[in-house]
Amino acid sequence: LWSVFRAVHRGEGPRCVFLTGASGVGKTFLALWMMRRVAELGLAIPIFVHSHESGAVLHAARRVLGALGARTREEVRHRLARTVPLWVGDEAMSEIDALSRALAEDDESSPTWRERRVSLRRGLAVAARRRGVLAVVDDIDANPDAIDFAEDMLDTGTPILVVATAQTEARARQPEIAARLERFAARADVEEIEVTPLPPDAHRRLVRELLLLSDSLAEEVERTTDGNPLFAVELVGDWIA
Ligand SMILES: Nc1ncnc2c1ncn2[C@@H]1O[C@H](COP(=O)(O)OP(=O)(O)OP(=O)(O)O)[C@@H](O)[C@H]1O
Ligand SMILES: [Mg+2]
Repeated sequence: LWSVFRAVHRGEGPRCVFLTGASGVGKTFLALWMMRRVAELGLAIPIFVHSHESGAVLHAARRVLGALGARTREEVRHRLARTVPLWVGDEAMSEIDALSRALAEDDESSPTWRERRVSLRRGLAVAARRRGVLAVVDDIDANPDAIDFAEDMLDTGTPILVVATAQTEARARQPEIAARLERFAARADVEEIEVTPLPPDAHRRLVRELLLLSDSLAEEVERTTDGNPLFAVELVGDWIA
């Protein structure tokens, strides 16, 4: 992840790390950890897309652009101009205009997804050129809009790292999405990494230190959950409940 991030940071163009693997193996955890580190170090603007929410991409864009809480076009415009010091000059004003139209909820012309996409892509490209963007697209298989969005980000030619996640088994369930993700993963700017279960040592540490179990219980949890952090956390959670 970091080597791809460094390549993006050096200006080698946008890239995507596509984390795949079984349910509960730690894909979202890894993506969020990366996002937190990048945000703490101020290396890029973090953006999180939870693909299950309807309008997930728009929600995420609203958040990242500092427009949270602004509902009308004027409010969005005002907040964008004030809270996004990334934009300077004439380009800024026309981008802010286009974005405020795309993001506002009261716009009588109610832009289509296609129109919003164009504005989002351009707005995020401007932001990325100034500071870099790390966009986590979680459960990308849950929503075709999320795939559009990830592809758009990669087509901007600006410093954006997209970290996408998808369950291997979810891809098998939906043939159309699976075909799209197959093409997505085959792009030269996308690197698929399969997240595998925790190695025995790390799994043992998680079970013993994080969950504070006695030795005999810990051994049983380790055996039953076989490197899957979700199973371990849930199994013990059930006992507590
Ligand atoms: N390396 C880790 N250290 C400690 N806890 C972890 C680690 N990886 C995952 N977990 C925990 O295991 C659980 C499952 O992880 P996560 O949600 O990232 O799985 P996932 O692969 O995204 O699953 P899904 O496919 O269902 O979305 C979470 O509670 C998470 O906090
Ligand atoms: Mg997940």
